[in-house]
Amino acid sequence: MASRKLAILLSGRGSNFVAIHEAIRRGDLVAEICCVISNVPDAAGLARAREFGLNAVSLPSRGLERVQYDRLLLETLRPYSPAIVCLAGFMRVLSPVFLNEYPGRVLNIHPALLPSFPGLHAQRQALEYGVKVSGCTVHLVDEGMDTGPILLQRAVEVIEGETEESLSARILKQEHDLYWRAIALVLARLEAGSEAGAGLRV
Ligand code: GRF
Repeated sequence: MASRKLAILLSGRGSNFVAIHEAIRRGDLVAEICCVISNVPDAAGLARAREFGLNAVSLPSRGLERVQYDRLLLETLRPYSPAIVCLAGFMRVLSPVFLNEYPGRVLNIHPALLPSFPGLHAQRQALEYGVKVSGCTVHLVDEGMDTGPILLQRAVEVIEGETEESLSARILKQEHDLYWRAIALVLARLEAGSEAGAGLRV
């Protein structure tokens, strides 16, 4: 069997990381988290990774140029040899220097139905626009901000009296059930011997 090692990159709370970890624990996702790396040293997600006994690495990005940081990230990841890199609330855009090392193997989750509402505060953007349906997206990462081939999406209806907080919470619940499924898809693709992005239809 090909490697099923996942590297997780995060910057904050880490609830998506925890959901992936739980899917593995339940046996829904056959994979192994080889490391969790955070560019924010006191990220709650990093503390959770330590509690779980995972390799948890603090790699501060403050003051570093984008490419400089991405090189550092590549060096840090190399010994863990991940099959897939999962961005889970990682608040940085990756450069081609990084992405070229993991073609079709870097995933991200976003709390909106891309290509609508990329960037920060996606739930607020959706509410302010007045959409009746929003949701979440797992996609392969390219050089853009929340762009790249879509792997899976889940729709969430906007209900009467919705606030940014209530919509975010309902979307987050769906995120937690979606990310591991997209990871499973990409792992299956990689095992079948094709780049995940090539002709993927799900
Ligand atoms: C999630 O809403 C995710 O879609 C976005 O950042 C948030 C991270 O939340 N990219 P968490 O750190 O996984 O709890």
